[in-house]
Amino acid sequence: MIRHHAGPFIVTREHRRFVEFADAVRRHATIGLCHGRAGVGKTLSARSYAQWDLVEPLLTEWGPREPSDAKVYAALAKTRTLFYTPPVSTSMTTVRKDLSLLVTRVNICINDKLKNRPPGRWTAPLGRIELLIVDEAERLTTPTLEFLRDQFDRAQIGLVLIGMPGIEKRMSRYPQLYSRIGFSHEYPTLSKDEMHFVLTRHWKRLGLELDKEDFTDTRAANAIIRLTNGNFRLLQRLFMQIERIIRINELAMITEDVVDAAGQALVIGNAK
Ligand SMILES: Nc1ncnc2c1ncn2[C@@H]1O[C@H](COP(=O)(O)OP(=O)(O)OP(=O)(O)O)[C@@H](O)[C@H]1O
Ligand SMILES: [Mg+2]
Repeated sequence: MIRHHAGPFIVTREHRRFVEFADAVRRHATIGLCHGRAGVGKTLSARSYAQWDLVEPLLTEWGPREPSDAKVYAALAKTRTLFYTPPVSTSMTTVRKDLSLLVTRVNICINDKLKNRPPGRWTAPLGRIELLIVDEAERLTTPTLEFLRDQFDRAQIGLVLIGMPGIEKRMSRYPQLYSRIGFSHEYPTLSKDEMHFVLTRHWKRLGLELDKEDFTDTRAANAIIRLTNGNFRLLQRLFMQIERIIRINELAMITEDVVDAAGQALVIGNAK
């Protein structure tokens, strides 16, 4: 995954709402549809929920065991979540293979952690997994969606499908799947309040302090809000430029001019 300069994951209100949504989908063993514009933070929220940065390397490499793997087993035993991104223009065979491999490996990890516990739902097709999150769900073909629905019916686990706005409409063309959707969650752009919270963190990262009472800071913050419109990816990219401009000019504060210059270095396009 590409995360240059991405900085630490910020627990925003939007992320907490995603967590509530995913928990509800899992609890009710239903299908949840999560949709939102490009760059609002859907993928990062889901990966964080599934602790995927921690568990993915072990699951994909599957090399010799190391003592440090114990924390991965513990994480999976706790999250019980499988996060999957189908490759572009993929066939059902690939998805089946990918998923079956991941399901087996995740279950081996969970069982390692739980050792002597009774098997519980282990007889179910997906074992001890309680939630499957499929990112970029628009990449799935109709037969693959049908396959997932079938798996989901038999395993009685939660299924979260993440996609762009409009995915709901596409799903509505498959009544069998659509009628099973228990929750639909729109992942929104950052609210203004939340932007201030995130901006404070960014200022701090550059060794600065964002003062709400300060005229220059407020102007700069408003310019950023205006340029990015609460879009996390744009914000991240804009800050890369801000950082660069601050460094080369040896500036001690972020001004509106700095933000404007940074904005010009970006192709913002119509991502708003
Ligand atoms: N909670 C967060 N904390 C810190 N940075 C974040 C957070 N959420 C998103 N970002 C930043 O925004 C970028 C875009 O987020 P993400 O890839 O999750 O968006 P997305 O909604 O999945 O977009 P797409 O629809 O294009 O897949 C990330 O690469 C990261 O830089
Ligand atoms: Mg994404």
